[in-house]
Amino acid sequence: MGNHHDTGRPVLSVRGLHVDYHLDPPVHAVRDLNLVLRRGEVLGIAGESGCGKSTLAYAVNRLLRPPAEVVAGSVVFHGADGHDTDVLALTGDALRSFRWRRIAMVFQGAMNALNPVLTIHTQLTDVLAAHEPGSRRRDRARRCAELLSLVGVHPDRARSYPHELSGGMRQRVMIAMALALNPDVLVMDEPTTALDVVVQRDILRELGRLRERFGFALVFITHDLSLLLEISDRIAIMYAGRVVEEGTATRLLTAPRHPYTTGLLGSFPSLTGPHQDLRGIPGQPPDLTQALAHCAFHDRCPHRRDVCAHQRPPLGPAPTTGDDPAPGGETHLVACHAWHPDRYGAPPPTPLRNGTFHPTHTAEGVDP
Ligand SMILES: Nc1ncnc2c1ncn2[C@@H]1O[C@H](COP(=O)(O)OP(=O)(O)O)[C@@H](O)[C@H]1O
Ligand SMILES: [Mg+2]
Repeated sequence: MGNHHDTGRPVLSVRGLHVDYHLDPPVHAVRDLNLVLRRGEVLGIAGESGCGKSTLAYAVNRLLRPPAEVVAGSVVFHGADGHDTDVLALTGDALRSFRWRRIAMVFQGAMNALNPVLTIHTQLTDVLAAHEPGSRRRDRARRCAELLSLVGVHPDRARSYPHELSGGMRQRVMIAMALALNPDVLVMDEPTTALDVVVQRDILRELGRLRERFGFALVFITHDLSLLLEISDRIAIMYAGRVVEEGTATRLLTAPRHPYTTGLLGSFPSLTGPHQDLRGIPGQPPDLTQALAHCAFHDRCPHRRDVCAHQRPPLGPAPTTGDDPAPGGETHLVACHAWHPDRYGAPPPTPLRNGTFHPTHTAEGVDP
């Protein structure tokens, strides 16, 4: 998506993050997660339902509630002024002003989260009044109209109640609210999942324009990898609470390394590309109450080796091979034994192409 403000400087760093839901037994929803978000970039996060995407989003926004708890790790916000903030240590007023001003979030299902008995105008100006108590009523009304037109909603619609607006318009209103205080980071968790494809694309295009103009970094979370490929600069693939592959959108599309990424690529129709046969990934994600000291994907993986059932592959630089259009280097990371033949003495699998599995061998229990 080119042309960024301050691109390259980190704005948010997540280090060694672990989040548990304290149930019996406990659910280890996010596990040793490391991610750096840069100013002005679009970072996509993809993975099947239940892999910990929303838990991660809630953790960085400090919105986790019991039984969820951050049990290890850090989240640091790097201010435009060079000042670092320990996000997990914020309390009281500092936390309230951090949320919305620094990081704002649009939730999964947010378009149904508007208060049904209040007009759009009231809800938007309430956000402004809460965060800018000294502001004048008239200025807030002007800002409300401005925000609505920014997201492509006619300011006259401010007088409407949520049920008078379409799903797409309600979603735009939620985006306007999230942008009300000009945040450095906008986190969107499955924001368009309930919308039809045409409306989704319009909203994504609008978001792209807003980001170019205001320079916020966008974390866009979805189970639909094909959507992310269109809008993201970088993509992190999550599986069982961890990042299993991370790289530029181009890299992940042209040279995916993790068999799970390849499976996801084959699971959704491309909005622009040619028709392809869709195949889901056989099997189920693992039970997150388990410790998972091995590769969490091994029982579903067409490339699994003995080592995969015993040892967890570290997230490391993706090796280059003959099929690479350009080497990924340090910017393309993967956690897969099969792609570290040097370390484990096994030959690399047949290159994976265009979202289709090409198993090199048939492991026990895996269908050919
Ligand atoms: N409020 C909750 N209480 C208990 N377990 C939860 C809760 N929310 C999520 N989980 C569990 O945490 C794991 C990750 O969930 P989630 O972060 O919602 O994943 P995703 O957003 O990728 O679908 C899942 O196993 C889910 O069942
Ligand atoms: Mg979710």
